[in-house]
Amino acid sequence: MTNEDIFKPIDFNFDENIILKDLMEMDVFKKSCITTIAYENGRSIIDTDNFFESYDDVMHYDENDNLIQKKYNTYVIYNFTHLPDVFESENESFVDTSSGGYRGRRPIWHVHNTAWRWKEDTPQSLIDTVNKLNLEYVSCVRLVGQVPPSKGIVHADSNFKENLKYFKNGGVSITLNVAHGGGHLQYRYKEKLHTIDESKYKCWHFNDALQHRTTEITSPRVQIRVFGKRKYENY
Ligand SMILES: [Fe+2]
Repeated sequence: MTNEDIFKPIDFNFDENIILKDLMEMDVFKKSCITTIAYENGRSIIDTDNFFESYDDVMHYDENDNLIQKKYNTYVIYNFTHLPDVFESENESFVDTSSGGYRGRRPIWHVHNTAWRWKEDTPQSLIDTVNKLNLEYVSCVRLVGQVPPSKGIVHADSNFKENLKYFKNGGVSITLNVAHGGGHLQYRYKEKLHTIDESKYKCWHFNDALQHRTTEITSPRVQIRVFGKRKYENY
């Protein structure tokens, strides 16, 4: 496993301005919901050894799952695709399962790794762009957004082993960087802090099983995360 397998730019071009305009027209931030993490002793439950600098000032859940407002907002999400029979697919990131994942929670795109349907209000510009990725199918396609003042909370989206299995079986996690917001992606790999200046890349693969966060953003950060499966000949 090299750092290249963790973060890898993808040579894919698209018109981010049209997508941004269409997303603002559909009022995507109003439809989105907050996603953050529980704290224990002032740290994210997946970052208990003080690896990342202090982020006590970011919105989080307390031990009783109450949302604690702080100076900084954090991520919001909105799913553009869904499975009409699976309620969690409307706007959730995880499903509770009895095994695997963190504390029994597994990313919904692992549990329901099939073709999802576009929601009706999704802008055609986004659908066309995702179709150009030429995947076998897409499952969860979602906004990962931030509105200033905001810092992305330290989290991990999956268990490391399960994510590797997902990628090995053709699974993808592709980011379309529609608006970087002035922040940097930071992740922990081999006990080093890696910092990615997101303004330099338009599209990338990222293994989101690593602990990661974003630094403070200064304008709205709009990313589209595309999960799905590559065509068989491509893996
Ligand atoms: Fe993430």
